[in-house]
Amino acid sequence: MKRIVSGIQPTGNLHLGNYLGAVKNWVDLQNSKDYEIYFFIADLHSLTGKLEASKLKEQTKILIAELLALGIDHKKVVFFRQSDVVGHTDLAWIFDCVTPVSELYRMTQFKDKSGNQPKNINSGLLTYPILQAADILLYQGELVPVGEDQVQHVELTRDIARWFNNKYGQYFVETKAKLTHIPRVKSLLAPDKKMSKSLGEGHVIDLADEPEVILKKLNKAVTATEGGGESMGVANLLLLLKEFADKKTYESFVRAEKDKTIRYGDLKKVLAENIAEHFKEFRKKRAEYLKNSVKLEKIMADGAKKAQKQAEKTMAEVRKLVGLR
Ligand code: AMP
Ligand code: TRP
Repeated sequence: MKRIVSGIQPTGNLHLGNYLGAVKNWVDLQNSKDYEIYFFIADLHSLTGKLEASKLKEQTKILIAELLALGIDHKKVVFFRQSDVVGHTDLAWIFDCVTPVSELYRMTQFKDKSGNQPKNINSGLLTYPILQAADILLYQGELVPVGEDQVQHVELTRDIARWFNNKYGQYFVETKAKLTHIPRVKSLLAPDKKMSKSLGEGHVIDLADEPEVILKKLNKAVTATEGGGESMGVANLLLLLKEFADKKTYESFVRAEKDKTIRYGDLKKVLAENIAEHFKEFRKKRAEYLKNSVKLEKIMADGAKKAQKQAEKTMAEVRKLVGLR
C-alpha cells in the first residue's frame, strides 16, 4: 500500500483554503482505504512564527478538535502530534547535512515569511522545509496531500531524498504532492493572493465561523471587475458556490454572470447560507470535542505510539546508513 503523509500547523482555526486545498482531501483519501496514512499536527513548524506559548497550546487543541470534527478517524489513520514523536528533528539534522543552503534561500515561502516578519528571520524559518522533508520521509511518504503553496517544499523533499540516496545508498522513496481540484483558494479581500490568515481576518472564512460572520465577511468580498472581464474575486466566489451549493443554484449564477444580470449581493447571500449549512454539523462536533481535553490527549498519545514505531525503524536504518552505528 502506498504511504500518505501530511501535516498542518496549529497557527489558527482551519479556513476554507486549508479545507478545500488539503483537509477535505485527507478525509476522502482516508475513506478510500487504498493507503496507509499518517496525518499530524506540525507544532514544531509553528515555532518559527509569532505565536505565544499559551496560544500555541490552545490552537493545537483546537486543531485536533477541528480535524476530528471534519472526519479524520484516528482508527483509520495514524493521527499524531509531531513533537510527540522522537525522530522528526533527528532526521532533519541529518538532512541539514546533505542540503545545500542555497536551495533553502530559493524557497518562496521563506522569502514571503521573511518579508512578513523582518524582525524575526530565525534559522528555523530557513530550515523549515528540511524538517518538512523529515516529517514525510520518516514514514517513507510517497504522496503528500497539500495545497499548491506547499508543492515547492514537496519537490525539495524529493531532492533531499536523492541527495541522501546518492551519498549513502538508495533508501528513501520518491515523494509527490497530491493536489485537489482547488489547490489555491483566493483571499476574499485580495483575490490575487491565496486565502491566508496572515493577511487578516477579513480575508478568510473559518470553518467554525457562525453564519452571520460568514455573511458579513462575504459582503465585504471584492467583486470589482478589471478590464470588463470576470474578476478574480467573482471567479473565486463562484468556485466556492460550485463546491457548496447544489448544481442548479450554481449554474443559475454562472448564467447570470455571463448575461451580466448577476447581483453580487444575492450571490454572497446564497453562498453564505450554503457554507454555513455545510459546516453546521462540524461546528457542533467541534464544540463537543473541545469540551473533552482528556479524550483529545488520549487520541494524540495513541497516535504517537503508532507513529513512533515506524519512526524508530527508519531512524535505526538511517543511523546505520550514515555511519552513526
Ligand atoms: P497551513 O495552514 O499553512 O499549515 O496549511 C495547511 C494546508 O492547507 C497546506 O496543505 C496548505 O497548502 C493548504 N492551504 C493553505 N492555504 C490554502 C489556500 N488558500 N488554498 C489552498 N490550500 C491552502
Ligand atoms: N509546511 C506545511 C504547511 O505550512 C505543514 C507541514 C509540515 C507539512 N510538515 C509537513 C505538510 C509534511 C505536508 C507534509 O502547510
